[in-house]
Amino acid sequence: MDNTTTINDIQFSDAAMAEIQRYISHYPPDRKKSAILPVLHIAQAEFGGWVSSQVQDKVAEILGIAPIEVYEVATFYTMFNLKPVGKHVLEVCRTGPCMLRGADQLIEHLEHRLGCKVGETSADGMFTLKTVECLAACGMGPMLQIRETYYENLDPDSTDKLLDDMRNE
Ligand code: FES
Repeated sequence: MDNTTTINDIQFSDAAMAEIQRYISHYPPDRKKSAILPVLHIAQAEFGGWVSSQVQDKVAEILGIAPIEVYEVATFYTMFNLKPVGKHVLEVCRTGPCMLRGADQLIEHLEHRLGCKVGETSADGMFTLKTVECLAACGMGPMLQIRETYYENLDPDSTDKLLDDMRNE
């Protein structure tokens, strides 16, 4: 997807459209916007792990709302990526309780092992490193999330093993 991509180039698969319609059907016809979060999740999964402005425009078209209404949601939540990401997105919790249990050291270790800073993607395109606020696993910090899976009580060894496992996946 580049700057020449237009909304007309954005086509969801039949399976994704069926899932979108299923979510939309949960709400009255004049309240389709209520499905915006699951639809954005589907869009992100469908188009390489991020939502370009064109994809957001397509979501607006599907929901019958103004593009700005999608932009304001997509830019608010850290779970939506607004630029291309690596194969795996590491979301490290950096809120107080995890900080007290070593989130800083975990982030430092990841930056060192991946050769990139928070907000960047490793040169091999495998990992994007992000920090996020509390993921509700405060007693098991430091921790990170990859898609829907939590990895908790991380230390340098278990973090390295996780990276290796992801590389070999
Ligand atoms: Fe990290 Fe809550 S502070 S999960």
